[in-house]
Amino acid sequence: MKDIQIYETAVQEGILLNANERSQPLSESFLKEVSEAVMTLTLNRYPDNDQRELLQAYAQVTGTREEMLLAGNGSDQILGYLIGTFLNRGKVLYTFDPDFSMYDYYAGTYEATVRKFDINADGSLDIGQFIENGRKENAAMVLFSNPNNPSGHCLGIDEIEHIVSSFADIPVCVDEAYIEFADAESTVSLLDRYDNLYVTRTLSKAYGLAGLRVGFLISSPGNMEKLKAAYVPYTLNAFSMKAAAIALSHHDEAEAYIAGIRSERKRMLEALQESRRACYIPSATNFIYGMSSDKARLTELFEKEGIVIRDYRNSDSFRITIGTGEENDLVLKVLKTFEEEKPCGQ
Ligand SMILES: Cc1ncc(COP(=O)(O)O)c(C=O)c1O
Repeated sequence: MKDIQIYETAVQEGILLNANERSQPLSESFLKEVSEAVMTLTLNRYPDNDQRELLQAYAQVTGTREEMLLAGNGSDQILGYLIGTFLNRGKVLYTFDPDFSMYDYYAGTYEATVRKFDINADGSLDIGQFIENGRKENAAMVLFSNPNNPSGHCLGIDEIEHIVSSFADIPVCVDEAYIEFADAESTVSLLDRYDNLYVTRTLSKAYGLAGLRVGFLISSPGNMEKLKAAYVPYTLNAFSMKAAAIALSHHDEAEAYIAGIRSERKRMLEALQESRRACYIPSATNFIYGMSSDKARLTELFEKEGIVIRDYRNSDSFRITIGTGEENDLVLKVLKTFEEEKPCGQ
């Protein structure tokens, strides 16, 4: 049996602010359109293996081309596919610490070795050092999320380009699960210049469709031709593809949701600026990452209110998804109570 780091799936009871999902319900018009479309699906037949309708819709939204795209069962599956394609026993996957824990899981399934580079307390990192260290570690693949989960920090396009060009002989994958929430240029703009670049995206976050399990890989047509040839047939089911294509045709709804999250994020970060018992990193995502040496007390207060946040074990850090206005008010209330209490031991 291989030694695989187990991924803890999210708790699903209470006010769920632990998995960076959308709290707001999806629009009725979208749900109606999906339910009508279900009636037209030929579920007795295998789905379209070329994922035509979905890829065309995503190409339009991202300004890419169908031959640069591939859809999977969540970007998770795509990440696993990339890791399985480029790595095997003992090969080094080079990433950040902290970053998305599924990278460790997939590297474990292929018996690859994971080497990590510590990001700074404010989420930034020394790119030059990162590159130098990666060379020393003999990296066979570079993979990181941008914006970063959990810190919420977003690297600039110049920083990303520096990384991609410095590791020109190995694949560099940028996981853009949260890019729509950031005020930053997507790495997709570098694709026509760097053949070693792979970008992953998802509909789980900005489109609020975590339950549908639809994610994308974007790379050069040449890379995609090879990757498509070895891809498991009929990976994505007809229902998810149809519903995702409909969601993409309502791109304006996602835009409105993103704008709402950005404004709530601003409100929350401003309210948290004066915090003394915890510190928070400016976020480019739909979540806020914090650290407190009294985290145990803080999580107790959240539990009392029935709010589920992401608690990183063996560390003083935690992550709170930005939810509805009401949910965020409740979060701010808990954090205010926490601030007003006497710190432990006083
Ligand atoms: C950084 C990052 N990448 C990828 C994913 C996976 O997203 P999905 O499989 O839902 O597309 C997540 C989910 O939380 C994430 O945080």
